[in-house]
Amino acid sequence: MTAITLIITARIVHVVSSTIWAGFVIIAGVVLVDAPHGTTAEDARRVRRSAINRAARVVAPAAIVSLLSGLYLFSALHAGARTPTEIALAIGALAAVLSFFIKALNGRVIASGRAAAVLLLVSGVAMAAARFLY
Ligand code: HEM
Repeated sequence: MTAITLIITARIVHVVSSTIWAGFVIIAGVVLVDAPHGTTAEDARRVRRSAINRAARVVAPAAIVSLLSGLYLFSALHAGARTPTEIALAIGALAAVLSFFIKALNGRVIASGRAAAVLLLVSGVAMAAARFLY
């Protein structure tokens, strides 16, 4: 595989896996946290837990693939550079990694779900803008 084919493949893998990861966390943090009308808090919690557990089989591997492909792209294309592009990519990566830990550290499911959604939104914005900042 030539170098450029490898980079393009890594970018495809990165953008698609990041979309799955951030997309689900944002929908979970914004939509799934609300209890459907006519359900008790306990029912809502059970439905939410079931949806999140089933989605995690796809979303958790996607998050790991996003992280690994992002680290590869950073080392292949941006290592050593310190322009606003790299700063934006680093902010985006930091926000994405923090979204992992916010859940582990915070027992409050709804607040931490919303915080994770905001962090991944920040990550997406920073990544999308990065290449145009110099
Ligand atoms: C987990 C940590 C992450 C790291 C280390 C990382 C790293 C990177 C790097 C280095 C690039 C630039 C690739 C290049 O110059 O060709 C990039 C691009 C991109 N990343 Fe990430 N990323 C991470 C997470 C995310 C997440 C969570 C999202 C979505 C919310 C995301 C969305 C994107 C997009 C859309 C691009 C393409 C930007 C463009 O083509 O202008 N990344 N990422």
